[in-house]
Amino acid sequence: MSEEDVRGDGGLEARLEEQETFEPPESFVEQANVTDESIYEEFEEEWPQCWEQAADLLEWDEPYDTVLEDEEAPFYEWFTGGNLNASYNCLDRHVEDGAKNRAAIKWEGELGETRTYTYGDLLNEVEAFAATLRDLGVEEDDVVTLYMPMIPELPIAMLACARIGAPHSAVFAGFSADALATRMNSADSEYLVTCDGYYRRGDALDHLSKTNEGLEDVEHEVSDVVVVDRLGDDLEHSLADNQHDYDELVDEHAGASVEPVSRDAEDMLFLMYTSGTTGQPKGVKHTTGGYLSYAAWTSQAVLDIKPEDTYWCSADIGWITGHSYIVYGPLALGTTTVMYEGTPDYPDKDRLWEIVENHRVDIFYTAPTAIRAFMKWGAEYPDQHDLSSLRLLGTVGEPINPRAWKWYYQNIGNEECPVVDTWWQTETGGMMVTTLPGVNTMKPGSAGPPLPGVDARIVDAAGEEVEAGNAGYLTVQKPWPGMLRTLYNNDERFISEYWQEYSDEEADEWVYFPEDGAKIDDDGYITVLGRVDDVINVSGHRLGTMEIESAIVGVSGVAEAAVVGGEHDIKGEAVYTYVIPEDGYEGGDDLREQIVEAVEDAIGPIARPEEVVFTPELPKTRSGKIMRRLLEDIASGNELGNTSTLRNPEVVEDIAEQVQGD
Ligand code: PRX
Repeated sequence: MSEEDVRGDGGLEARLEEQETFEPPESFVEQANVTDESIYEEFEEEWPQCWEQAADLLEWDEPYDTVLEDEEAPFYEWFTGGNLNASYNCLDRHVEDGAKNRAAIKWEGELGETRTYTYGDLLNEVEAFAATLRDLGVEEDDVVTLYMPMIPELPIAMLACARIGAPHSAVFAGFSADALATRMNSADSEYLVTCDGYYRRGDALDHLSKTNEGLEDVEHEVSDVVVVDRLGDDLEHSLADNQHDYDELVDEHAGASVEPVSRDAEDMLFLMYTSGTTGQPKGVKHTTGGYLSYAAWTSQAVLDIKPEDTYWCSADIGWITGHSYIVYGPLALGTTTVMYEGTPDYPDKDRLWEIVENHRVDIFYTAPTAIRAFMKWGAEYPDQHDLSSLRLLGTVGEPINPRAWKWYYQNIGNEECPVVDTWWQTETGGMMVTTLPGVNTMKPGSAGPPLPGVDARIVDAAGEEVEAGNAGYLTVQKPWPGMLRTLYNNDERFISEYWQEYSDEEADEWVYFPEDGAKIDDDGYITVLGRVDDVINVSGHRLGTMEIESAIVGVSGVAEAAVVGGEHDIKGEAVYTYVIPEDGYEGGDDLREQIVEAVEDAIGPIARPEEVVFTPELPKTRSGKIMRRLLEDIASGNELGNTSTLRNPEVVEDIAEQVQGD
């Protein structure tokens, strides 16, 4: 496989430039949680027992008897026989240890209002909401859907669910009504927590109408919906019979004491839907013991979190990054986690740096897309603020180009903070490939070596490891505690999506395939190049091209559609759609508008097409397969290779002209 065969531009600049390296600053190393490189050898020699170090970060009601159970591989189990509660581990034990008055969550609304929950406050509110959920009839193992923006009630609801053993399924608030319904249907979820609205660039968005629209398409009966009053309007008038005002219920249950339910290590903590290659999102199942241990361990080893820190991850809790690294990891370690409701450029482009300065943030974790936007806005915005409290910077979600990495290192970190570029996925639960900030040399553009205990290897199409300097497919050849256990109600798809490609079933040798392309250098550093399946990564958000295509072909007047990712300066990738109108329809602005609307309705504004190109035909091979590679090259403005193997080479020029001629 050549590098051209995999998508993504993350490695491109690195290949063109001489690889620069940076050492972790001495001042950082002196205080780092992990400083000894012997940890790599130790974890290799002691594997899988090494993962007890992760489990030891938690308090168990019942100790586990086996670290890794691999009898039914790839349905691995971790810390079997152990019992624990995630909410107890994130709250009660810190209060018991004397941290009752330490800030757990510092929240800032877009309009500037702030709320601080100490560990004591948060425990009280979580117990009150856990009592509420119980009274509504939520039982252990009932899936509760959370369709909420970045307001404190979201982590409160997550922890309340965890407390009573009800798995939560968070749906990103920016997703559409349809997306909510699909996920509630798939999870058979009868309970929903949502809100009336939230703020975006100063405007109040109506979230309740969107919720209600989604509820109309839920196929089973929804028992109860709890609505948080974020906008301060008169909520009562807008609520249906089975809808309740969050504040009223929590007030009624104030002071309630709810014993944390002791859960088996392998019991489900939450479901998180993510996009795959088919039109149907996948319900990734994460467990209580393995996931929480892994989120806590990686938060400590990679993000260097300490209880006295103020830590800020600017992701949304509706995605896995927010689950693992705003809520579960940081709170399990007893630190202060910052949440921001709004956009980074409201009211001005220095908003994030103002938050860093005001809260004296020690650790900041964000996405390369955000960094590229900061870069475009200019260094004058961070320069207006005192960012000297920062000790460590991180990135996640997509490849980071070396230029953006260096800008971040210099302009935000003042060359005094290590930058960790962390590769992982919804399915992995936590970070997998990254430098340890107090140990490793940094190479901009390259995520780094696999974490200790993580057996990530780059292989060719036959599954053989590639030589250093080459590109191939990223694989993980040993299980890890944070791994997904299955896809909800779909063990078969779990096997076919992740394990079929490189495993040797007969030999009982299981290899996890994350569907990313990557290359490896002489030092074992991995540069992730991007997805090799039909999934695209827009601003660090994962979208299935099939999901977008099926929305488009639902528009009357559309005969056929192909969706691909094209390179984008800020977003990394953007959505490009190529559409064949039906006979009798014209590909004009009207149809274009309907297509854009259909995509927003089916998925949400994040999937909004950058371009809709009308064409009488799509470039196809002689066997009738759409040449996606070519469509991607057109979208990215790349030079087009040989088109002579196509059945209809003449359409290529016409399409390219429409896109590149702009
Ligand atoms: O392609 C990889 C990319 O994001 C995908 C996972 O997306 P999701 O499950 O939504 O989780 C995002 C947050 C963990 C991966 O398959 N990706 C993630 N981190 C990186 C990355 N690509 C390159 N470098 C990274 N650091």
